Amino acid sequence: MPASPQFLTGNEIRQKFLDFYAKKGHHVLESASLIPDDPTVLLTIAGMLPFKPIFLGQEPAKYDRATTSQKCIRTNDIENVGRTARHHTFFEMLGNFSFGDYFKKEAIAWAWELSTEWFGLPKERLFATVYQDDEDAFAIWRDDIGLPTQRIIRMGEEDNFWAAGPTGPCGPCSELYYDLHPDLGDEDFDIEDDSRFIEFYNLVFMEYNRDGEGHLSPLQKQNIDTGMGLERMAQILQQVPNNYETDLIFPIIQKAAEIAEIQYDRTSDANRVSLKVIGDHVRAVVHLIADGVTASNIGRGYVLRRLIRRVVRHGKSIGISRPFLEDVAEIAIALSEGAYPHVRERERAIKDELSREETRFLETLERGEKMLAEVIERSQGEISGVDAFVLYDTYGFPLELTQEMAAEYGLTVNQEQFEAEMEKQRQRSQAAHETIDLTVQGSIEKLASQIHATEFTGYDHLAYDAKVEAVLVDGRSTEKAAAGDQVQVVLDRTPFYAESGGQIGDRGYLSGEDLVVRVEDVQQEGHVFVHFGRIERGTLQPGDTVNAQIDRACRRRAAAHHTATHLLQAALKKLVDESVSQAGSLVAFDRLRFDFNCPRQLTSEDLEQIESQINLWIAEAHDTQSAVMPFDEAKAKGAIAMFGEKYGSEVRVIDVPGVSMELCGGTHVKNTAEIGLFKIISETGISSGVRRIEAVAGPAVLEYLNVRDGIVRSLGEQFKAQPEEILPRVSNLQKELKETREELEDTKAELAIAKSDQLANEAETVGDFQVLVSSLEGADPESLKQAATRLQQKLGKAAVILGSVPTEGKVSLVAAFSEEVNQKGLQAGKFIGGIAKICGGGGGGRPNVAQAGGRETDKLPEALETAKKQLQESLQ
Ligand code: SER
Repeated sequence: MPASPQFLTGNEIRQKFLDFYAKKGHHVLESASLIPDDPTVLLTIAGMLPFKPIFLGQEPAKYDRATTSQKCIRTNDIENVGRTARHHTFFEMLGNFSFGDYFKKEAIAWAWELSTEWFGLPKERLFATVYQDDEDAFAIWRDDIGLPTQRIIRMGEEDNFWAAGPTGPCGPCSELYYDLHPDLGDEDFDIEDDSRFIEFYNLVFMEYNRDGEGHLSPLQKQNIDTGMGLERMAQILQQVPNNYETDLIFPIIQKAAEIAEIQYDRTSDANRVSLKVIGDHVRAVVHLIADGVTASNIGRGYVLRRLIRRVVRHGKSIGISRPFLEDVAEIAIALSEGAYPHVRERERAIKDELSREETRFLETLERGEKMLAEVIERSQGEISGVDAFVLYDTYGFPLELTQEMAAEYGLTVNQEQFEAEMEKQRQRSQAAHETIDLTVQGSIEKLASQIHATEFTGYDHLAYDAKVEAVLVDGRSTEKAAAGDQVQVVLDRTPFYAESGGQIGDRGYLSGEDLVVRVEDVQQEGHVFVHFGRIERGTLQPGDTVNAQIDRACRRRAAAHHTATHLLQAALKKLVDESVSQAGSLVAFDRLRFDFNCPRQLTSEDLEQIESQINLWIAEAHDTQSAVMPFDEAKAKGAIAMFGEKYGSEVRVIDVPGVSMELCGGTHVKNTAEIGLFKIISETGISSGVRRIEAVAGPAVLEYLNVRDGIVRSLGEQFKAQPEEILPRVSNLQKELKETREELEDTKAELAIAKSDQLANEAETVGDFQVLVSSLEGADPESLKQAATRLQQKLGKAAVILGSVPTEGKVSLVAAFSEEVNQKGLQAGKFIGGIAKICGGGGGGRPNVAQAGGRETDKLPEALETAKKQLQESLQ
């Protein structure tokens, strides 16, 4: 019997890992949010991501050693989830990091000590891989650890060289594997056979930087980045056949099985896959929402929506017929609240968002079923791949389901087209940066990694001299730029605020003797501030000293809008719901926009009250205070932090005592009275549970009112009316317009009927019958019917078909058959219903008179032609 490790729960494993590295001098840091600070990635996809700026040398490390249990989400392998033993969307990565401190020797020794002594993995079950020519790592495993050489496997670049993206920090790695079947011996094995081996710990020796051309250059420091999959270690220590059956996930699966009234170990393989997908995805969606993501059709919101829909669909396919997400989410919340208390704090928001999305999707599915029925009806022989893709993408119908249902009607699905649409979709989502890509900002980012951090002193100073560190033209570093050039300028220190936290960058000037650069925007690249502008006069070169001066009026406007945004959030919490939380914001010079999670719609009374409350706070002239303090202290004081935002250990707090306290890096007024006035412009829902308020404050209010006033004035001139008379005047005009339109319609119909009398002459004799097929321009359905009936009566033994386009995009058809025509087996209802199909529609009615309609107006001549032919054939 090979030796087995001792059982540990997932929570115990996480804690042991962190304790072990704490003992080895590592700072234990909290998991960063799933929403990364890094604009080049959509989600946090690796434990090292929050430390990327440190590895790149853009940010100083606060500690030499750190350890974390990091929440991660990867969706590139989503189709494999549930089908293999170890694929996940959400997972936790345990990591220990060295920022230029210890290197290979300690990393390997500690990984071994942790695995064998703390986790009790039997030594004879462990294997290690090393990068092909990493002799150092090979020697450490052989000599320091004493691992037999046949259990140290050299691997190539693809497997054992880890990089955070196409460019950036990277290095060779060494991975630890656990042998599930040591009885098979270590003579002849394939380390990549995952039915036998589990890779559970990756040690990356991060010592290079890869540039855009693929060249490696040594980093200033040698670093360590490791990752141990918590779920994998749990699988090993709990001796279960896959990650899903560990105590981190299985309770969710059991709950879903209970709701579906099936048993995990007795049900079909397909149902088991669905249960595993549910187990995996429910954790992902709970943590995404906990970190502030709401479902939408773009970016992270789309990832969330897609995951929720997959859960609902898999629920349906195992036989769950009622909403069940809240119930399974409760289990996931309970499983994670120990390690991530904010998940329980956000319980209500999580459950509300889930059930809202679930209900919506169930309705969508119902509509999808209808669409499928329509698609089947209009498809001949084959359902197009485009239709199948819409069904898949919009309504969540998997291809197999569409295929099965199509087969029942003898139809196939064009799979090639479907795949092509899928590929397009894949490219679209890749464009949303689901992988780490450091090349996005190109040379500026490269430059930022070579320049030290810009000192920002713009909270207290609005102008002073600064040294030019770098000048870029067309994104390239240059030694001299001249008048007319669009430039990007980096200074050693700056009073300019760079766009962040929703507030746009300052405007202003850089000037010197015979030099004027107009600054149009300021962006932050890592810790470097980049001033975007145009040289109006003179020349500029690195090393110059310039006077950097911000536009004070713009700054005052931004400050008014920023403080007003804080007041707005406070008013919403006070007057609407305590649970209101910020989902996004824009603080510009001319307006502010505030997006927020809100459990209900706002009424006009709500908006009035909010506006009055804010104007009251403004009038009360509260002093504002800003202070820098440790994050925990700020939280304890009750400062509002934004979910998903990554904060350092020291934070800046903006306090309007007694009214609002928020973590914020923006610029603010010194006293609320400076805001002057606050006015809401609009309030709308932007996605489910997320609302948006746009407003103006400070000098922007007057501008806004002037524009409005101008509109009222010119309307008054146009209507020759006083402002208060405009409204009644407009309603009268609308009423008149409506009446005139109705009269016009009536006249048109009368005209059509009058014209129709002449049509009798156009009837053809077919056998014993009179056949009349014609179009009657402009006639509405009712006059068309009257005309057809009259014509049929006039013609006696007759079949009359009339068609018209009463309004754009609409076809109207009518058939009037005499009894004798019915005796020939022709029914008006059936006949006209068939003809209407040509125009993309349908209809029917009684045997003697029947009406139908369609949408394809250009098909009307063809439809009439067909009707005529059919009548000629049948009445001969
Ligand atoms: N960055 C490495 C990985 O993701 C180790 O943490 O595997």
